[in-house]
Amino acid sequence: MGKPSDLSSSAFSVVTIHQYRVLYEKCVQLINSEWPRSYNARLRSLEASRDTLPTSMVVIKNTDSINETTSVLAHARLSPVPSDSSAVFIESVVVDRRFRGQGLGKLLMTEVEKHCFSALHLKTIFLSTIDQDGFYIKLGYQFCKAINMFGTHCALNNSTKKIWLRKSVM
Ligand SMILES: CC(C)(COP(=O)(O)OP(=O)(O)OC[C@H]1O[C@@H](n2cnc3c(N)ncnc32)[C@H](O)[C@@H]1OP(=O)(O)O)[C@@H](O)C(=O)NCCC(=O)NCCS
Repeated sequence: MGKPSDLSSSAFSVVTIHQYRVLYEKCVQLINSEWPRSYNARLRSLEASRDTLPTSMVVIKNTDSINETTSVLAHARLSPVPSDSSAVFIESVVVDRRFRGQGLGKLLMTEVEKHCFSALHLKTIFLSTIDQDGFYIKLGYQFCKAINMFGTHCALNNSTKKIWLRKSVM
């Protein structure tokens, strides 16, 4: 499948999930297609989404009306960092397998960054990944030390071999 000719066209939109509760089920299916977990646990996490953090943002395929048949093609969750109120932690970034390599991940992250830096006035985005650092480096993220989300002094768990990245407001 080739790249969509113009991602800024009206083919796709990036929206917050709580604007369209009718999309919850499709969004749970998308996230669970990559990281299977109980439906209810996923639903609860989406139901917590709001304008301030935490927020789940999704890429949808534009249709005349948004309803339960609307395709949810990508998702990212923006979570607060309790130890740093000027920072956000991005997690559960996933693009529908059938649509990878077409710029949707980049579209989503660009809108996530606008939301974090311009709407929420946050200063730094942190995220961690096991094997997708190349994607984030392409988007301008830089390697950094693991952050301690809660500001406590518990030992870091290095067993997962997570790579940490950050991007700060220009
Ligand atoms: C990682 C993921 C979100 C990328 O989404 P995508 O829609 O396929 O990425 P895009 O097509 O928007 O890629 C944007 C750019 O990054 C590059 N890129 C994408 N994945 C890459 C990778 N793993 N390594 C290096 N570059 C990568 C693309 O080539 C593209 O470059 P270009 O702008 O020069 O053309 C997607 O592959 C995915 O959902 N993976 C499974 C879930 C996962 O691992 N998520 C990350 C959790 S931290």
